[in-house]
Amino acid sequence: MAAAPTKRSQWKSRTGFILAAIGSAIGLGNIWRFSYLAYDNGGGAFLIPYLIALLTAGVPLLILEFGIGHERIGSAPLAFAKLKKHWEWLGWWPVIFVMFGIVLYYSVIIAWCVNYMFFAMQLSWGDDPDHFFFKEFLHVSSGPSEVLSIQTPILAALVAVWAICWAIIIRGVSRGIELANRIFMPLLLVLTLFLVIWSLRLEGAALGIHAYLNPDFSKLAQPKVWISAYGQIFFTLSLGFGIMIAYASYLPYKTDITGAAVITALTNSGFSLLAGLGVFSVLGFMSHTQNLPIENVVKQSIGLAFVAYPKAISLMGPAGPLFGTLFFVSLVVAGLSSAISIVEAFTSAVVDKFGTDRKILATVLSVAGFLGGIIFTTQGGLFWLDIVDHFINAYGLVVVGLLECIVVGWFFRLDTIRQHLNKVSRLQLGTWWNWTIKFLLPGVLAVILANQLVDEVTKPYGDYSWASLISIGWNWVGVTFLLSFILAVQPWRSGANLEKGRSDGHPQ
Ligand code: PHE
Repeated sequence: MAAAPTKRSQWKSRTGFILAAIGSAIGLGNIWRFSYLAYDNGGGAFLIPYLIALLTAGVPLLILEFGIGHERIGSAPLAFAKLKKHWEWLGWWPVIFVMFGIVLYYSVIIAWCVNYMFFAMQLSWGDDPDHFFFKEFLHVSSGPSEVLSIQTPILAALVAVWAICWAIIIRGVSRGIELANRIFMPLLLVLTLFLVIWSLRLEGAALGIHAYLNPDFSKLAQPKVWISAYGQIFFTLSLGFGIMIAYASYLPYKTDITGAAVITALTNSGFSLLAGLGVFSVLGFMSHTQNLPIENVVKQSIGLAFVAYPKAISLMGPAGPLFGTLFFVSLVVAGLSSAISIVEAFTSAVVDKFGTDRKILATVLSVAGFLGGIIFTTQGGLFWLDIVDHFINAYGLVVVGLLECIVVGWFFRLDTIRQHLNKVSRLQLGTWWNWTIKFLLPGVLAVILANQLVDEVTKPYGDYSWASLISIGWNWVGVTFLLSFILAVQPWRSGANLEKGRSDGHPQ
């Protein structure tokens, strides 16, 4: 017999919900990933596709995800099961590949930042931060098949990261996640503003700002720039993760959902643009002090936060350690609020389906997350991270986004969602939104996907061996995909009502 459904958790306030959504969105992606993509794709040239991607994909899809979660009242699997029973797997797949993919390596990057917080205090990286990062800190091996030993300082920090996540998640939606974000988000804003103002006053900052804001229109002809921009919008808004669906399901009936989506999307990108000002000022400062053109200050863009920043911090003189420590503290804060949102998306899915006790589940997941992360703390970990990150971002998120648009746009009455949103929200959605979800977005995403697939088969990603790409990357995608079907066919044990959404009479 099905258990009686327990009452759904709720946010204390709409502001709390928006802060949590922003907390998920703003993460390492905004500071580390956004900056290196902008740097790689020609600074100012990147901002145009980025903003276009924000408006054509980011905002409409975020509205859709909030809409699905709110109207169907469920985490991703429950919401999709209520849309169309045999699409339940589409709700499981993202929450599985983020819980058993993204968050595993993401928590390890936070663990690096925790270490760097302490390194910054003493400028431990000496004169050669590049050598320090790869050789002394990560002890990188020669390739993904050479895993070798676990790096204890990273492992120790990883324990701390998971302990914090666990402590927040077991407290539940409003007393844990909402409260943590109420503290984390303002703290992050203050830290970032402080760092940006400081960076803007460094000598040579203007050089960097010029590179950042000066558009180079010739770059717009390269498909790669556009693909990176759309990919970044997905990642940065946590779209295709199943997170935003779960978060919106914890809202009371009458809430301005559409407005909340717009605020979340704009705040998140505003934050990236702001952080970018800081990063590029520092690059300008480096170009000035080292007498190098700005395109040559950073060799390997992935190492921007852990190589270029430390270099700049060392050049800053007595203020360096304080600046550096604060920079890594802000990365840790930004990262934690995102990591929590992933664990919550999975927790919420399992609670909805099996009625499991949240505390027990959060504990099991935190331990599993930690154990699963260990592979990334080894000497081969950087390669594993790179491969898993590539496959999940290039295929997972985009495929989920594409299918979401198709399932809801073509097989369900998309207008039900739009009318529901218009009923509860102040900001009204026109039919342009239906067109975007039904045609424009699937079109854009299909082109991106096709481009990536062609790239993938013509040249092995990152020059890794085909064997490693298949055994790590494709397997990761394949196994999580399979798991989503296995979970989807299990019987519902939570007593969830699979029939109704808010539009057709679900008790509010
Ligand atoms: N939006 C996050 C970021 O930019 C991406 C993310 C979300 C990563 C949740 C992990 C967990 O960093």
